[in-house]
Amino acid sequence: MQENEFKYYESIGNWNFTDIKYITEKLTNWDFYEIIKENTNQKSLCLDLGTGGGEKVLEKYPNVGMLIATDFSKEMITTAKKNAKKYPDKKIKFAYMDNLKITFPNNIFDLVSARHTIIDAKQIYNCLKKNGILVIEGIDKNDCIELKQIFGRGQAYNDKISISQKDYKDIKEAGFSSIKKVEILENEYYKTEEDLMALLLKTPILDNFSEFENNEFEHYKIIEKELFKKYVQKYKTEKGILLKRRLYGIVAIK
Ligand SMILES: C[S@@+](CC[C@H](N)C(=O)[O-])C[C@H]1O[C@@H](n2cnc3c(N)ncnc32)[C@H](O)[C@@H]1O
Repeated sequence: MQENEFKYYESIGNWNFTDIKYITEKLTNWDFYEIIKENTNQKSLCLDLGTGGGEKVLEKYPNVGMLIATDFSKEMITTAKKNAKKYPDKKIKFAYMDNLKITFPNNIFDLVSARHTIIDAKQIYNCLKKNGILVIEGIDKNDCIELKQIFGRGQAYNDKISISQKDYKDIKEAGFSSIKKVEILENEYYKTEEDLMALLLKTPILDNFSEFENNEFEHYKIIEKELFKKYVQKYKTEKGILLKRRLYGIVAIK
């Protein structure tokens, strides 16, 4: 288990950003939930890995036969079960599971999705049916790079091989037959400095789990004021404070 990440997500216990005011401008048209919709129907059996507090899947996942949504944080799953009460018609079950130790039998899912979480391509391959689909959206070193450069640190900032390259390679080696990788570009505009600060305090954008020994990791609770001001001055626009998101999407067929 990734001890640092586990402790971090357990302490947060939800992945809810509704209190932070920002708008998103999509610069590319790849959409994670649209891709899932295009590849499922009302009979599909789906698995969503690293689902957080279920906030996104409850709101955005298309209607499928059954969605099993898992996370290794018990706090996240407790939150997800609470959140699910607001969606009584959604065919969804939340369960505790480590993405790196998938416990489902082979050849059962029509589609496996994973958004902003770690994957093991071979284990996903095994639990997908023949012609089953893998859809992932990920974050790597170039996300918010302007901010990371000012702070000289951040999520995956010092990675020699980017997570997207590694995922692509692992997916290929796992045996998937058709693999498409795309770059996803989005501009987010944060209404106030407090909104951007709230994002940085809640997410690991300025952290790097892998650079700390297990149990030594501490989430940066302090964001250096001077550096933050420097970023805000440079990226303040009429629409808000700009944060350039650079994500990647991968769709693969078994
Ligand atoms: C950035 S959040 C993304 C949540 C959700 N997928 C979304 O897009 O809103 C990452 C989630 O992955 C979970 N996670 C990280 N490593 C995991 C692992 N090895 N097994 C299961 N869940 C994991 C965390 O607990 C957290 O809930």
